[in-house]
This record gives sequence, structure tokens and C-alpha cells, in this order.
Amino acid sequence: MYFSEEVLADVRMGNDIVDVIGEYVKLKKSGANYFGLCPFHNEKTPSFSVSPEKQIYRCFGCGAGGNVFRFIEQKENLTFPETVEYLAKRINYTLPENNSKADAYKREIKQQLWDIHKAAARFYYECLNADMGAEARAYLDKRGVQPNIRKKFGLGYSPDEWNRLNDHLLELGFDQEMILKSGLVNGSNSGRYYDKFRNRLMFPIIDVYGHIIGFGGRQLRDNKEEAKYLNSPDTEIFNKSFNPYNLNFARHANKREFILVEGYMDVIALYQAGFKNAVAALGTAFNSNHASVLKRYTQNIIVLFDSDAAGENAVLRALPVLKEAGISAKVLQVKNAKDPDEYIKSYGAEAFAKLLSTAVNGTMFRIENVKKKYSLDNIDDKISLTRDIVEILAQTDDPLELELYIRDVAKQIGVSPEAILSEVNRIQGVKDRTPKGNGNGLGKSVKNIEVDNALEDAKSGLISLLALDGSLFESVERIFDKKEFLDDLYIKLYDIVKKLHAQNASIQAADIVTYLNGETDEVQSRAARILMAQLPYGSDEQRRHALADDLRLIKTNYIDRMMLEAEDDEQIVRLVQQKKNVENIIKSL
Ligand code: CTP
Ligand code: MN
Repeated sequence: MYFSEEVLADVRMGNDIVDVIGEYVKLKKSGANYFGLCPFHNEKTPSFSVSPEKQIYRCFGCGAGGNVFRFIEQKENLTFPETVEYLAKRINYTLPENNSKADAYKREIKQQLWDIHKAAARFYYECLNADMGAEARAYLDKRGVQPNIRKKFGLGYSPDEWNRLNDHLLELGFDQEMILKSGLVNGSNSGRYYDKFRNRLMFPIIDVYGHIIGFGGRQLRDNKEEAKYLNSPDTEIFNKSFNPYNLNFARHANKREFILVEGYMDVIALYQAGFKNAVAALGTAFNSNHASVLKRYTQNIIVLFDSDAAGENAVLRALPVLKEAGISAKVLQVKNAKDPDEYIKSYGAEAFAKLLSTAVNGTMFRIENVKKKYSLDNIDDKISLTRDIVEILAQTDDPLELELYIRDVAKQIGVSPEAILSEVNRIQGVKDRTPKGNGNGLGKSVKNIEVDNALEDAKSGLISLLALDGSLFESVERIFDKKEFLDDLYIKLYDIVKKLHAQNASIQAADIVTYLNGETDEVQSRAARILMAQLPYGSDEQRRHALADDLRLIKTNYIDRMMLEAEDDEQIVRLVQQKKNVENIIKSL
């Protein structure tokens, strides 16, 4: 759908960002801006700000930001055109006539197709539970699908006859033309109509709004003459690539990640065992459209395909697609079972939960996979293997991950870490220079380790110093409050380092990251970058100096920020005083 610049401007300006966001977030005015708790990540101290003047929002904690369209898009999970409609409706703004007329017609057709699918699903459901459904019911018994789950997923049975569904839909008053459009009935040259799905177990496919938009149908007896599964064709309401199976339930499962499986039965078996967050790309390979849809609901996906070679290859194809979409992927394979469905049946939900926790990240999976191709007892193989691994590592943009893998791989193959690193750098460098290379920071990773502004340097420097020497906490805490970081992540890191020292644990960057397990990947990789910053100073004297410099910068920045937000003159005077005093405080360190 196309909206003119004027229309977009009208809709945007009619929806004041403070009003709109105020419906979701409790905002408090402070200085020129409004502040509140960020709705896009968990936080206790407000780092989310809205500017009425600029009509934008921004979160200092998680980096979310944009205008009113972007906010609603993210918050309501809408596409851009849907967002425009939503905000237009909010202010009773009538979108231009030609758009809405064409729209009304399209919507009418869609509504009819939804109605047809709903009627069909009911019909199949009744057939399953009638006499003719006996064999299908027995099949479900055999596969251990319990009655409540059959109902939950609206499973059905399509009769073993040529046009029972078509007749039924006609009886209900639907147009033959519409019925054909639904894809559930086909027309033949001889002018006859016949049902697409016959004598199959039926799986309704439901979109996130709860409309039934298509079906999958499985044979009851394995018969190689025909396809094991048939799926609805793409129609005006159904596109295989945009409608993963079970997205409707998975998105309400309240899980941090989705489990991506291959088939209908995997999804259902997992659901029955309490894992409601599985989705499947049906009847088509996982592609960037699937990824973009899933990205609206989660940043994290565990890929769990069948354990055969086809499944493994499908994983290797899915990984770059997920990465490209900005989704962080882990991989899992079931052992001693062909797929998750069979695994759960044989070993139970508890074993499955344990298995889930062993998912490895995509890089690791790919490395393990190429390792199978070579033996390590001859030089040629070692060279080829190193090349393959370097290719994989060059696609990693997480410096911590890169560092750990390089060490690990170097040890295993028996080459120096420096040699691998320099190869990785070389490939990243080449890719960086290619014109298209929008490789999301690809290639910058190693250079990124040096954080690029003084304040960030000071903050990460402080954390590193504290990690290095726990005894510093005592004096630091006398003159510094962690809220002066003005950044949730640093506050967290500060707390973690302090806690680890209190437990007398030895502190390593990787351990600190482990404590951030529940955080988004963005947060984790940012933390990794901070912790990777190398400390250049060796002597105690140098460290004291660095500590003083870091604290001075952080404290003055904090006071500056407070001044910007100060509400009255008295406060400003106090802050100016504080700023003058910073140097004395630092000296007392
Ligand atoms: N599929 C398909 N058409 C086929 C075969 C498979 O669309 N001819 C899709 C289905 O969505 C199926 C998925 O690919 O669920 C995975 O295929 P497979 O592993 O063969 O199916 P399972 O779900 O394991 O089927 P079942 O357990 O019922 O044998
Ligand atoms: Mn399978």
C-alpha cells in the first residue's frame, strides 16, 4: 500500500508522540524531555526518553529509538501500512479515498476467504469426530495426540470423497468462485469441482490474528504414490513464507526464544509436552520471509530439525538466513530419535528440557560440522579445515565469541591463534571493502574492541579496573554512586563484579557475561565488547591515575546530564557547586 508524503505527515503530526507513548509508558517531564521505564527492555531506573520537540523517543539502555510510527510498529507488532492505518484511526483521520476503496474491496474478499476457512475447519473437525473419522482418530491415538490437544489445534479429517467440502460450503451459501479462490477446492476442465484434501488428517494453519488461513493434510497410511503432506496453495490470505505454523500460540508462550522445528507433528508433540514456543516453516525451506516474521516476536531461535542428513543441511541453510535477519540462533539435534516428536515420545518432557539447555550456538555447530569432513592426521586436511573454519569465524561479529573460538580451534588443529586471527582479519577486511557489504558490522569486530569514545572508555575502564582489583571498591564507593553510570548495563556489570569479588571468585570476562544470560544478545555482546577492552597500564601508580581519570569523566558527565534536566535554578546552582567540587573528591581517592 502506498501513502503519500502528505498523508504520512498528517498522520504523524496528528499523533503527538508524548500522547501516544504516554498510553503505554508512564512518563515524567524533566527538563525539555519526558522520561520513563523503557517498554522494550527490562529496567528499574528510567533510561527511556521522549522529546516532544523532536517527536522522537530513545532508550539509552537498549538503544531502541525512532518516531511515532516506529514505536507503534514495534509495540503493536504491525507492518508499516498497518501502523499508518492504526494511527490514522486513532485521530479519526480518513485515509485517501482510492486507498480505502481498493482496501475495502480487498478486505471483503479476505473476510469471505477467512469465513470459508473457518467453515471448512469446523467441517473437518466434525468429520474427525463422526463415524467416518474412526481411522483418523485411531491414527491420532497411535501418535499419542491427546483429545485436548486435538481440540486446541483444531485437528480434523477430510472425508474420502470427491466433493463433500465443496457441497457443504455451497450449502452454507458461499460463492463457487470464492470457494475456488480459497484453494480448498479445485476445478477440473470438465467443469467439475473436487476437494483438494481427501482422506487426510487436517491441520489448520492460523495467523496471529486468529484467522484460519490454510491447512496441511497428512496421509493416514504411508503411501509413496502420494505426498505425505499436502499444504494449501498460496492465496490472498495465505503465504507459506509469512505464516509459520503455531506462531499464534508460540507468541503467547512467554518464552525468550522460539524453537524452530520441521513439522506439524513436532510442534504438536512439543506443545503437548509443555513447550508451547515451537514453530515450523511448512512445506517450504526456511527463508528470509519466515525470519522477518519471527523477528517481530523474538531475537532468539533454537533450530531443532530432524536428525538425518537432510535436517542437518537444512540447519546449515537456515543459519545464515537467521543471522542476516539479526536473529541469534542456537542449534540442537535430537539423539537416538529421528525428530523432536519421536524424541519426546521416547524420552519424555524432562529429558527434552535438559536437551534444550545443551543447544550450541550457530558458529559452534558449523565448526563441528566442517570438522567431520576432514581428518587431522595430515597437513593437507589441516590446511583445508583451517580455511573452512576461518571462513566461518570471519562471519562472527561478536568479539568475545571470536576470541574464544580462535583459541579453541588453534589448540585443536595445532596452529597458532595469531595465524588464525590474521586470516580472519584478512577476510573481514576484504568483505568490508566490497561495495555491497552491509554485513552488520561484519569485519569491524576486531577493531570494535577499542571502544570509540572517551566516556565509554572511562566507564569500561572503571569496570575493568574493579574487576582486576576488588580492593578498589572500598575507596571508589566512598565517592561514586553506580547510578552515575547513567546506563543500566554498566550498573549491572558493576554489581556483578562486586558480587564476584565478595565471593572471592576469580574474575574473567566470560564469567561476567554468563551472569548476563537472561539479557538480549545485544546487551550481551555489548558487555563482551566492554569487557574485552584491554588495560594498557601495568604499575599500581598508572592504575590509580587511570581510576582517577575515569571517575572524573564519569562524574562530570553525570552532573552535566543532571543540569540539562534540572527543573529549577536552585538545582542548577547546586549542580554547578558539585561540578566544581569533583576535583577535590577525586583527590580524596
Ligand atoms: N512436508 C510437506 N510435504 C511433504 C513432506 C513434508 O509439506 N511431502 C512438510 C510438512 O510440513 C512436514 C514437514 O515438512 O510436517 C516435515 O516433514 P517430515 O519430517 O517428513 O514430517 P513429520 O512431521 O516428521 O511427519 P510425520 O511425523 O507425520 O511422519
Ligand atoms: Mn520429521
